Amino acid sequence: MPQGVIIVSYIAATILFILALRGLSHPETARRGNLYGIIGMTLAIAATVMSDRVSSYVLVVLAMAGGGAVGIYVARKVQMTEMPELVAILHSLVGMAAVLIGFANYLDPTAAFEGAAKTVHEVEIYLGILIGAVTFTGSVVAWGKLCGKISGKPVLLPARHWLNLGLLILAVLLGKWFLNVESIGAGMIPLILMTLIAFAFGVHMVMAIGGADMPVVVSMLNSYSGWAASATGFMLSNDLLIVTGALVGSSGAILSYIMCRAMNRHFLSVIAGGFGTEGGAPAAAAGEQGEVHPIDPDETAEFLENAKNVIIVPGYGMAVAQAQHVVAEIVKTLRDKGVNVRFGIHPVAGRMPGHMNVLLAEAKIPYDIVLEMDEINDDFPETDVAIVIGANDIVNPSAMEDPNSPIAGMPVLEVWKADTCIVLKRSMATGYAGVDNPLFFRENTRMLFGDARESLDKVLGHLKQ
Ligand code: TAP
Repeated sequence: MPQGVIIVSYIAATILFILALRGLSHPETARRGNLYGIIGMTLAIAATVMSDRVSSYVLVVLAMAGGGAVGIYVARKVQMTEMPELVAILHSLVGMAAVLIGFANYLDPTAAFEGAAKTVHEVEIYLGILIGAVTFTGSVVAWGKLCGKISGKPVLLPARHWLNLGLLILAVLLGKWFLNVESIGAGMIPLILMTLIAFAFGVHMVMAIGGADMPVVVSMLNSYSGWAASATGFMLSNDLLIVTGALVGSSGAILSYIMCRAMNRHFLSVIAGGFGTEGGAPAAAAGEQGEVHPIDPDETAEFLENAKNVIIVPGYGMAVAQAQHVVAEIVKTLRDKGVNVRFGIHPVAGRMPGHMNVLLAEAKIPYDIVLEMDEINDDFPETDVAIVIGANDIVNPSAMEDPNSPIAGMPVLEVWKADTCIVLKRSMATGYAGVDNPLFFRENTRMLFGDARESLDKVLGHLKQ
């Protein structure tokens, strides 16, 4: 294919990727955004495969068929609640690809760079492998933490900041060595040593982060995977890969910033680690904190139909129970009866950015009643019933009231300010951050115990009678 056509295809793909990102920023335009992304990626792959840099179509077809088959299988099999793990492990593949391409590029016998061009090329290789290796092991550890194969508790080694600094200095010194050697064979030694250090750094960095900080880790690794792809683009002199990687890298960085703001945390203190503890531990004995007031589905339905204003706060448990469709039916029934029902969405509800918005959109809940935390938090005092569906950390008053709480300072949805707060969950267990929740013992809180979907099915049955 002529070079001009390839350049035009790359520019078109870049524009489509920018439009895709823009579309994905709102639920109403997300579907269109996804479509732009698909068209852009198809165009990018087609133009790359048809360029004169591809010498063996057999290899390309085999790799695409193998990768595509695995991708289709995994995408069909994955549960919505497993999406964050899948995203984390996919980031690790981008990291590993950057490492492998870096080594292949360095060992490429046809590469003939001289002088400054050689130095620039070697810096690209070194940085690409460094970022890729950190992304790879960091993402594998994040995957393990998200799916519970590795403890969510931060692992804080003594003098860990000094250890990180030492690793960084070592990587810089090895870089100097790498740039000063004459032969490829001699260059492999510092390159391999740096790769091992970067692998260790990725493990150490993510092991030290835990509990409620995991959303930031996921978006940070998303950003790293973008920069790793961008570095690969420099190595391969592929402009589209440079731009696409930069788009992913910068949007991931912006998302990390938004997540940090939502958690009221500084990015550097997240990276330094140590916020939140073990997930899923049983809460302190009920008697120590006060009385729990259980309620049944019929009473819940009565509270709801007698209310004028209701705010629903969904959390991870709604995703586990797959309760979004029955929630949608309850919302419709209540609205038909004249009740003003709205949703309050916390920025880190669930296990991935936008998790709740995706579920509510899937259940076709109108977007105009789905509000962000900042938009709805002041309305709780005028609300008759706040109903919390499988959420815990994001409605924990100790974040605001107890300066010693591990999640102190994290903004939360102030559901306890409603006249009545009904919490749906199966037990008194803690949420992801492993922090006890005094909300469950408040005078105006009622606990509807059981699987959220089963409980809400019964509530709907009563409402329809
Ligand atoms: P959590 O604090 O994890 O609480 C979820 C609650 O849902 C649990 O306490 C659980 O209690 C309940 N639950 C689970 N399955 C249920 C079911 N089938 N029916 C009813 N209830 C069920 O969730 P959250 O309030 O959404 O907060 C999110 C947490 O995850 C935050 O700590 C956040 O930092 C972290 N996190 C978020 C992200 C992103 S990007 N959103 C990524 C990683 C981590 P029972 O076991 O008693 O039922």
